[in-house]
Amino acid sequence: MDYKIRTKIAKIIIEDKIEIGSAVTILGMVRTIRKGKNVAFVEVNDGSCMKNLQAVFSEPEKFPALEDILTGATVRIKGKLVASQGKGQKYELAADAIDLIGVADASYPLQKKRHSFEFLREIAHLRPRTNTFGAVNRIRSKISYAIHRYYQERGFLYIHTPIISTSDCEGAGDLFRVSTFDFNDIPTKDGKIDWDADFFGAEAFLTVSGQLEAEIMATALGDVYTFGPTFRAENSNTARHASEFWMIEPEMAWAELEDDMDLAEDFLKYLFSFALENCQDDMEFFNKWIDKEVRQTLEAVVKAEFERLPYTKAIEILTSSGAKFEYPVKWGMDLQTEHERYLTEKTFQKPVIVYDYPEEIKPFYMRVNDDGKTVRAMDVLVPRVGEIIGGSQREERLEVLTERMRQKGITNLDSYFWYTDLRKYGSVPHAGFGLGFDRVLMYITGMTNIRDILPFPRVPRWAKF
Ligand code: 4AD
Ligand code: MG
Repeated sequence: MDYKIRTKIAKIIIEDKIEIGSAVTILGMVRTIRKGKNVAFVEVNDGSCMKNLQAVFSEPEKFPALEDILTGATVRIKGKLVASQGKGQKYELAADAIDLIGVADASYPLQKKRHSFEFLREIAHLRPRTNTFGAVNRIRSKISYAIHRYYQERGFLYIHTPIISTSDCEGAGDLFRVSTFDFNDIPTKDGKIDWDADFFGAEAFLTVSGQLEAEIMATALGDVYTFGPTFRAENSNTARHASEFWMIEPEMAWAELEDDMDLAEDFLKYLFSFALENCQDDMEFFNKWIDKEVRQTLEAVVKAEFERLPYTKAIEILTSSGAKFEYPVKWGMDLQTEHERYLTEKTFQKPVIVYDYPEEIKPFYMRVNDDGKTVRAMDVLVPRVGEIIGGSQREERLEVLTERMRQKGITNLDSYFWYTDLRKYGSVPHAGFGLGFDRVLMYITGMTNIRDILPFPRVPRWAKF
């Protein structure tokens, strides 16, 4: 069978490249089939776009294959492209042949009705066949492309940072261990685990961030970015935390916090415009079925100037708001989702960049301000999702950095010699941030759970498929 002759449905419906009257062959999956005495309709989806192409069989009795076709079967249909008589579609196929390629019986779980997202998570191997997950995966691909285009067009080098790491960038200790030890017989030395006997001759983990290695590259090559998976073993069972997620981390040499904020704002606006302009078919679906305001929200954000708010001011706003929070607000605390959402949704009704956070709640690498109490950190907060970007200007002064590492309890300073060397030899002021890819997709699509954005989510007690 010659599969190369197939015409993708997107080419007909989205790109509008096929002339009426042309003979076409489509290959795809049956979404619905309706059989009458004089006519039968088969709606086919091939994943290339949201929409189905309807094939019309004017003398159904001449097509015995129709008898065995149910929702979920795969078929090959040949026919002539014609203007549709029905409402809601421009084209249909006047079919003159159909072959059943792969059968599906009545037990196929995706019968035509709405399924809950919870149910679909249990069948993550089949859910890409649904409208919602088809759209999510197409947007993931398009936005990945947009990310590379954004940085490549601006002269940033795409760099690859390691997935296996021996350092804890964020210092939060949420690390997944990488080891080849036999857990029933772990080597010890002087009563302690002998990591020297392990595969890497040291304790090793899955990385939480590519930042530290990105700094190595930025201080040599200028502007760089990473785009890869990161891993966190935090036991947070929320709709916006995953144990494995994708992060984009630009790192700029010769840059300060203001440059970092400018880049973050420009980058987000670029991605939102890109989605609105280049993913119209799927965006229409999200706007209709997932969040009726999602398109309007993105359009407004593209035009808005993000609010830039020092942390101390954010605390003042929250304490004087009169709002009741589960976590009481006081200077020095980390902002919780409820506080972040209050600022973006109630106070400013647009994205807010909070900066100059207390030194105590932020990692060792952030540049200390002259007040000695705050660091050059910034978080971009957006309505609905909360924190979407976390970044900072990095501490480029050797003495200040090593002192801060000591304060943060980093006892094995020696093993970070490569990081301090960047300051010891030809230090470069630099800054960067991390954008949570899956969170930005939540924002773009209006989907409310990160488990429905990641094709195969990993969260506490769940790593199936
Ligand atoms: O704020 P974070 O922890 O920052 C860093 O890792 C820095 N090293 C980045 C840098 O400066 N190069 O994480 C960055 C972003 C967050 O703002 C959030 O969007 C996302 O990563 N993120 C998560 N997304 C999904 N699930 C999780 N468990 C996440 N943790 C962080
Ligand atoms: Mg953060």
